[in-house]
Amino acid sequence: MTRVNADVDPDDIPSNPSANRHIQDVMSRRAIIKGGTVVAAAGFLTTGLASSAVAYGRPDKPGRPGKPGKELLGFEAVPPGTDDAIVVPAGYTAQVLIPWGTPLNSRGPAWKKDASNTAADQERQIGSNHDGMHLFPLSKDSGLLAVNHEYVDTQGLYTEGDEVVTKEKVDKALAAHGVSIMKIRRNRENGAWEHVDSPFNRRVTGSTPVKFSGPVTLENDALKSNNAPQGTLNNCSSGYTPWGTYVTCEENWNGYFGTEDASWTPDAEEKRYGVAATGTPYRWHEADERFDLAKNRKEVNRFGWIVEINPFAPRSAPVKRTALGRFKHEGATVTESRGRVVVYSGDDQDGEYVYKFVGDGRWRDRLRRGQSPLDHGTLYVAKFDDNGSGVWLPLVFGQGALTRANGWKDQADVLIRTRTAADAVGATRLDRPEWVAVDPKNKDVFLTLTNGSGNGGAAGPRKPNPYGHILRWAEKGGDNTALSFKWEVFILSGDPAYDKTVELGAEAIHGSPDGIGFDEDGRLWIQTDISNSSQNLPAKGYDNIGNNMLLACDPKTREIKRFLVGPRGSEVTGLTFSADGRSLFVNIQHPGESTTAWGSPTVENPRVVSNWPDFDPAGRPRSATVVVTKKDGGRIGT
Ligand code: FEO
Ligand code: CA
Ligand code: CA
Ligand code: CA
Repeated sequence: MTRVNADVDPDDIPSNPSANRHIQDVMSRRAIIKGGTVVAAAGFLTTGLASSAVAYGRPDKPGRPGKPGKELLGFEAVPPGTDDAIVVPAGYTAQVLIPWGTPLNSRGPAWKKDASNTAADQERQIGSNHDGMHLFPLSKDSGLLAVNHEYVDTQGLYTEGDEVVTKEKVDKALAAHGVSIMKIRRNRENGAWEHVDSPFNRRVTGSTPVKFSGPVTLENDALKSNNAPQGTLNNCSSGYTPWGTYVTCEENWNGYFGTEDASWTPDAEEKRYGVAATGTPYRWHEADERFDLAKNRKEVNRFGWIVEINPFAPRSAPVKRTALGRFKHEGATVTESRGRVVVYSGDDQDGEYVYKFVGDGRWRDRLRRGQSPLDHGTLYVAKFDDNGSGVWLPLVFGQGALTRANGWKDQADVLIRTRTAADAVGATRLDRPEWVAVDPKNKDVFLTLTNGSGNGGAAGPRKPNPYGHILRWAEKGGDNTALSFKWEVFILSGDPAYDKTVELGAEAIHGSPDGIGFDEDGRLWIQTDISNSSQNLPAKGYDNIGNNMLLACDPKTREIKRFLVGPRGSEVTGLTFSADGRSLFVNIQHPGESTTAWGSPTVENPRVVSNWPDFDPAGRPRSATVVVTKKDGGRIGT
């Protein structure tokens, strides 16, 4: 999420004015209707999936965690922590890789710890605020690591801070955004991972030329801005396709645009996406007209998309795949079913929706015809019903409410105004939909709802919901292209000391689940992003939980164990594995960010909260990738 000065998390502020029911309403009503029976839970099991034989609790309330398979969670859980360090279980080691500012190759430019690197330097260095990532393996000991750079700390990015905005500063910030692709390999002698020079090493930034594809083209009037199409911004989470490309997601892109022109006012669509004259913490419009809403109004419509990058074609332009809709895309979880591609994506803001794109026809056939499987298909939005069932509602021009009579022009219009289209068809509002994971064994789908205001009654997941929860659903027949599903609350996050309905022990308490993903053995990994205005604070019920963390979960028994705790002020995000499952890569984002518990970094002392990972007395905290390995060389989690 975009948090320049962490006191207010913009994702927590809803901008959905629709009357669509909130998931909290649905859940509290369900709890009353069901009265603790397991009717809908049994329904969840009728999917005919061999490995779905899980004992579900009441559908609106997660079951009590049981004992895990020994092999699945074989490690000793680490306790909650508040140290400025990475903590992993006994028998494991953690190593720092490609922190912000690492040069793309050995010719430099070298990282300068006083943040005096120029914009031109930053274009050839690893960006900041590492987020979603994927390792494209070249062998079991090497691969191309694609890493998102979600945002910048506007103060920490510059030696003299951010009081004055200049074009050079905007250019440096743009260069620190986007994606890095870096070849990494395991050193044969010492077993450590290292980055190496490679023609594949590249940066995609907020200024890189980009293409548009799918129903929304650059000829569309809504996209006719004053400049050439360039850049991807606020790249939060990501996914990867079965054809070997990286898909990166534009989340809080609205925050980069603003204006000093008092005559500019947002229209209904701009409001729906949170575009506002004073809505930017970055103030780029003060030095770059591209981001001035009054001078270049339509540039903002070129953001909010999922962007496909081919890591194996370093000169190829990133492509914005417009068929997947325009919203604050948290992630893009790609799976396939019956030869068709399916992409799940949450819209991370309080009261927003979860979507899925289903490709039209077999993706291999599309590729064979020289077409993108992501350009042809249908976008759906989820509706969660009272009885534990749900449906996917199509966002198709001419269908349902999306007609010309209702003011819709064509499919491009539906996609540019995806949120409004989803309002119109009656989607279910959720508590900040973040990542989606698909169980490789039975194709069940998991969605993290990090926290939110809630609208619901007293029972079940909370109102308000400061700790979040995880939903699980089974698509009909285990087919991810299906248009109906059965759902339940999988885990209610939190701390029983503050909420007795939480069924988590000391080894499992956590809040604000965000990143989520499976490894090949079927472990479900959960990452947290507790806001720095709540972290470690008794007044927020977060003092027992400690710093942000990574946990492992047995999806059959719901047993959870804390695996890694991050340094102060940081979020743990991004999840990928080496081809042999023996190296786990996670990102530590925004260590040292301003927190209510630890204080605020200053120009004079950027190390007030954290000095991870360098601990240089004259340095500054840096986001970085961390590689975890087991000392005995075993698989991660055993
Ligand atoms: Fe970029 Fe919703 O976290
Ligand atoms: Ca983040
Ligand atoms: Ca996130
Ligand atoms: Ca988050």
